[in-house]
Amino acid sequence: MNSELLFASPLELDSPALLLPLWSGGELSTEARALDEKLGGLLSSVIEEDAFKPTVGATRVLHTPALGTPRLILLGLGARDKFSLVKWTQAVARGARAVRSIKRSRAALLLPECDLPPAELAQGATEGAMLGLHLYNDFKTDAETRALTVLETLSLLPGDESKRAELERGIERGQVLAGANLLARALVNAPSNTKSPQSLALAAQSIADEHGLRCEVWDEDRLRAEKMDALFAVGVGSDNPSRFIILEHAPEGHEQDAPIVLVGKGMTFDSGGYSIKPAASMEDMKDDMAGAAIVLGVLEAVGRLKPRQRIIGLIPSAENMVAGNAMRPGDIVSARNGLSIEILNTDAEGRLILADALSYATELKPRAIVDYATLTGAIRVALGTEGAGLFANDDALAQGLARAGEHSGDKVWRFPLWDEYKDSMKGTISDLKNIGPERSAGSIVAAIFLEKFVGPDIAWAHLDVAAVSLIREDKPLCARGATGFGVRLTLDWLQQLD
Ligand code: BES
Ligand code: MN
Ligand code: ZN
Repeated sequence: MNSELLFASPLELDSPALLLPLWSGGELSTEARALDEKLGGLLSSVIEEDAFKPTVGATRVLHTPALGTPRLILLGLGARDKFSLVKWTQAVARGARAVRSIKRSRAALLLPECDLPPAELAQGATEGAMLGLHLYNDFKTDAETRALTVLETLSLLPGDESKRAELERGIERGQVLAGANLLARALVNAPSNTKSPQSLALAAQSIADEHGLRCEVWDEDRLRAEKMDALFAVGVGSDNPSRFIILEHAPEGHEQDAPIVLVGKGMTFDSGGYSIKPAASMEDMKDDMAGAAIVLGVLEAVGRLKPRQRIIGLIPSAENMVAGNAMRPGDIVSARNGLSIEILNTDAEGRLILADALSYATELKPRAIVDYATLTGAIRVALGTEGAGLFANDDALAQGLARAGEHSGDKVWRFPLWDEYKDSMKGTISDLKNIGPERSAGSIVAAIFLEKFVGPDIAWAHLDVAAVSLIREDKPLCARGATGFGVRLTLDWLQQLD
């Protein structure tokens, strides 16, 4: 889908459909009043009869042969004083779906007069349409699905030309952010028989080639040589060998800066290993590389936006399977930083591969580390599917991420790393065990395990995205399936830095 600017009056417009935003409370914009007049009061009568309530994302299609736009789609924005970028993006997503439902490949969208900066309006409209329309149909072969109408062009009508440059910048940023989110969705939606640690490495390499990033991929021999025995152990039972992927954006003049390091859990399938998972919904474990998908999406956008910061993505990737040579409960491995870990549960594998990756991240003397992981089922019990768990050893970093979460719509909620839990994973015959003595506080205990591999005095945050990366029901910006959660949050946060 393409969005473009169109400087035309909605009254003189020639387009198959026009999306007309409306506030709740009955107030009509100048353009809406003009349209209403031309339609002989159709608009005001629909509103007065309460036939349309402009809650956020509500739509109603009117036949308007009297206009150059034979379909007028009313689009609710909710209350003017509660408006936000997130609501605008969600409303446009629903509007774009309404255009698809009437099988139009082109439509125009009137931009509302409001407090949002023009760049954000254009960005949100672009993201809303691109994300709201996305469907995962790669394996559907029926004619009906294949014939589905796609919205090819959305024309944004800004009213006047004075903000052209800002609007164009907004459209471009929206395309980059939505594109990065869609890349993450594609990687997560792919079934595990079509992906592997090596295919994630190839995806990283092609992003690097396209955008001039540095990419390095370590194979299993290298993992052992680099003392990444925890990562090696997790993947040793799979026929798809493990990889450690490094993707770096180092802009000229900033090659030696302390980097922002983003780490993503890249389990391309998690059967649980010998501590095997129940059959029910094991198929969801194709999403256990959602953290890696976030990092790849963000680095692709970074390659296109070229910020002045040095940013490094790290992906420990493996497949957790059952085999004659797979890791067993009771095995002891030592992580890159030297700590020995007794593997009491082979299904607590994410923290093992992240242990090596976080140790390596620490060696890069970073400005901050943020890791993304589908780490615990417990985070769903705590938060449901509306937001991710945030854990951090640094208040400023936590606040920055939380603010980016609010602004982008990828919501996060902070959890404590209480000292009282810090000994719960102390080993008996090793330094650490990979699970605590009880099930309670499972997400916190997992985060505390990760913290042991982050060097002292390094700002670190961990996002547990286990409940938000794959959804079973449609949401405003995302049909059921992979969400790409975390990509837009991170890009928002990176933009706020400096
Ligand atoms: N990948 C899972 C966590 C997960 C659960 C992701 C549900 C997405 C949806 C992780 O590797 C795991 O198995 N965690 C265990 C930890 C336990 C063994 C301490 C869990 O949450 O049950
Ligand atoms: Mn697991
Ligand atoms: Zn896992």
